[in-house]
Amino acid sequence: MTFKIVTLFCSFAIAFGLEVNDKVLECPFPEGQDVATEEKCGDYSACQWTDGLCHMRSNDEAGYYVSGQMESNSRGFKVNLQKKDMKTSLFGGDVETLVFEVIHHENHHLQIKIYDPETSRFEVPIPLRVPDTPGVSPLYNVKISSEGQPFDFHVTRAANGNSIFHSIGPLTFEDQFLQLHTQLASSYLYGFGENPHSSFRHVFDPRTTFPIFARDRGFTTEHANLYGSHPYYTLVEDNDGNTHSVLLYTSNAMEYSTFLLPGGEPALTLRTIGGIIDLHFFLGPSPEDVNSQYSQAIGTTHFPPYWSLGFQLSRWGYNSTTNIRKLQERMRFMNIPQDVQMLDIDYMDGKHDFTFDPDHFHDLPELVQELHNHDLKVVIILDPALITNFDTYGPSKRGKASDVFLKWMDQDLVPDNQKPECEDYMVGHVWPAEDVVFPDFLNPETKKWWANELKLFKKVIDYDGVWIDMNEPSNFDTNQPWSLQCPKNHLDVPPYPTQAAFVGDNKIKRLSEHSICMSGNQTDGDSTFLHYDVHSLYGWSEIVATAEALKEINPEKRPMVLTRSTFPGSGHFGIHWLGDNTADWEHMRMSIIGMLEFNMFGIPMVGADICGFFEEPDMEMCARWMQLGAFYPFCRNHNTLGLPDQDPTAWPEVAEVSRSVLSLRYKYLPYLYTLFHKAHMHGSSVVRPLWNVFPSDVGSRDVDDQFLWGNGLMVAPVITPGATTRDIYFPQGLWYDLVSGQLEAKEGPITKRVEAPLKKIPVYVRGGIILPFQKPSKNTVQSRRNPFGLTVALAEDGMASGSIFWDDGDGNQSMMKSYMAWFSYAQGELKMSIKHGAGAVAGLDLDSIVILGSSNAPTSIQVNGQNIVSWSYSNHVITMYSLKWPMDKEIHVQIKF
Ligand code: GLC
Repeated sequence: MTFKIVTLFCSFAIAFGLEVNDKVLECPFPEGQDVATEEKCGDYSACQWTDGLCHMRSNDEAGYYVSGQMESNSRGFKVNLQKKDMKTSLFGGDVETLVFEVIHHENHHLQIKIYDPETSRFEVPIPLRVPDTPGVSPLYNVKISSEGQPFDFHVTRAANGNSIFHSIGPLTFEDQFLQLHTQLASSYLYGFGENPHSSFRHVFDPRTTFPIFARDRGFTTEHANLYGSHPYYTLVEDNDGNTHSVLLYTSNAMEYSTFLLPGGEPALTLRTIGGIIDLHFFLGPSPEDVNSQYSQAIGTTHFPPYWSLGFQLSRWGYNSTTNIRKLQERMRFMNIPQDVQMLDIDYMDGKHDFTFDPDHFHDLPELVQELHNHDLKVVIILDPALITNFDTYGPSKRGKASDVFLKWMDQDLVPDNQKPECEDYMVGHVWPAEDVVFPDFLNPETKKWWANELKLFKKVIDYDGVWIDMNEPSNFDTNQPWSLQCPKNHLDVPPYPTQAAFVGDNKIKRLSEHSICMSGNQTDGDSTFLHYDVHSLYGWSEIVATAEALKEINPEKRPMVLTRSTFPGSGHFGIHWLGDNTADWEHMRMSIIGMLEFNMFGIPMVGADICGFFEEPDMEMCARWMQLGAFYPFCRNHNTLGLPDQDPTAWPEVAEVSRSVLSLRYKYLPYLYTLFHKAHMHGSSVVRPLWNVFPSDVGSRDVDDQFLWGNGLMVAPVITPGATTRDIYFPQGLWYDLVSGQLEAKEGPITKRVEAPLKKIPVYVRGGIILPFQKPSKNTVQSRRNPFGLTVALAEDGMASGSIFWDDGDGNQSMMKSYMAWFSYAQGELKMSIKHGAGAVAGLDLDSIVILGSSNAPTSIQVNGQNIVSWSYSNHVITMYSLKWPMDKEIHVQIKF
């Protein structure tokens, strides 16, 4: 087997090069491309000025050449690369000799590393999940140029030769600047984050650059880097829908540019300012295969507790337990479903973690108990930065004793006026009035200390979940005289800071803007890391520490952790929201794109602040946003301090809309939960763009204002003010209105205008799908006791199928304790077969079955051989009710027409 693979790779070691005009590969200017002049271009020996553009010299002049024989091994091969001319450089520190290594993992997973064999450099310290032995029939081929030739590499799809990655121009590998370019197979490019993309599909013309680097940056329509780092994209290659994805596995600041080559071919530039080049390719071939392959490599999603799929309500500035009680009364009076009440920093005493305000929140423990009595869960916010009152504030005192705080990399960097008790910690300023220090969550000692703090506080406030915020990490007014000042060394002022340093008015700032200095040290207990390298892992490390702590505190329960900053693999531990948006229709629209992207990033439990965080929404916007938000996997209304309430009870119309749409959500939670179970087990996505389900429907690839739950339910929210209709793209197949059960489209792909007055969000079930549902209730504790039903949407061939997963909702997974059943319908017969775990549904009934699209009226219906009378037929819908059939018994329904 091994021999075969080696042969396969070696056999492609032939000379080739992509014939493109590489005079379009822009040279990077730290101050932004606008400042490029012929004179400045002259400062780069690797660049040349042609026709008003400062571009990279050719591969032959400024790149590497293949300098030795290929060395094969059991998993691939290696070959040396040699810099052609050490005199050509961008920022200096060019590495003269490199290794290009091909590592074969799964048939669908290829890794390519380019690194310095002499000096070890930073690599992301989170291993991806790969098999011990590689697959035997790779879906890809890798070619590189032959010995002595300028270095190029080309990854292709074995089945049809589609180009996956084809390097163009020179590779740059300098100490603090790494760059490569590739031609892309198509312009159907999606992903990369966390960025505010105004269209889901990337723009190539004009050339577009986005930075990636974790930053506390409120949602904006600018080309900004937001809270998390996902250097990962997906590309649909051809009209058949063959799809692959690529991860540039780096946690350093980076940026990517999309542009067109002179012949119109789409191309991509990847730049990072540290570490190595570590590329992972996932070959699909379907878009959903790509999602599962990637998720399996980074860790499939955490299985959220059922209650966390319910409606969550939050705001900054309830300001007292009295106000929360009043809100709760309003919610109950208006009969609006809710599962979670969140507590923002105003519950704290002086904004100190693990405390509560003794005045306005003095009876918080009692309030939490009352909420529990009403079957609600309570989620508390915690910020990472802790005050430096080491003598009087327990968490910091114990943290100092365990040595858990992030330090300056060098004693000399400790500011002269730093208080002696702050030792060599990096001291900053966040919400509290006092100075703060930052726990280093990579450190195993920090995890132990954090778990203990969470355990101690659980005895004070009986919280059910934790919301970790400000973990980019955020620091206020960095580099201002009164705040944390970063040194001007090579880490804090790197030669090329990437566009991550551009903020707001686009004047160059520092990477440390609104964060901490790059010149910090962190450790995982074995190795020491520069904050410069691991900055974007801060949120990831905190969610790992928090989820593990909650599991330790309550080993029987699945934890709920909501985080702002994420990295590949964060989904394995919890939930993400899209950060501080604004009550703005454009932000509402773009939240769909963010949600779709995070589903590709393996964090399917995601949503935006419904009705907007900053600024005041009007009634119509909030009503429409509640409708859209009811279909976010993570469904939470949240707003900021000092603004009027915007919870669903704030306007009678919004209350009515919310009650109705949240009831619809709660009804179909069994379907959503089943999708999450699949995502957890197999890495699939939960919310999908249309092209995921219809990969060869080229027209669907630009649709980014509609989405699906799994393959079965399509949501087309109204996201424009004043609209009472909307145009909807219906892919091929039958689509039934979920609420009326009536056929809406059958001639797809087609764009059709449908009525959508304020009280309606258009939602459709796809023919061929069976959706399990449960009678909704005001929270999931209650809805989970209600009878089940099935929505059977018939396809053109009169068939449909589906499944359900069920368990206790928040316990640990085991086949014994969980239930799984399959449903299928064909020619008047519906069967439910139980795969396992009938005990998990004991006492629950299947009470109704609704069949959509039956052209004939039944004459009789039998359930397991017995005639039933409780059914009706009208407008092509057969409804069976009062079935009272136990879910733990298989069912066989026969309909005679
Ligand atoms: C941050 C969070 C926001 C929260 C606020 C106060 O801005 O993103 O959700 O309300 O801090 O804690």
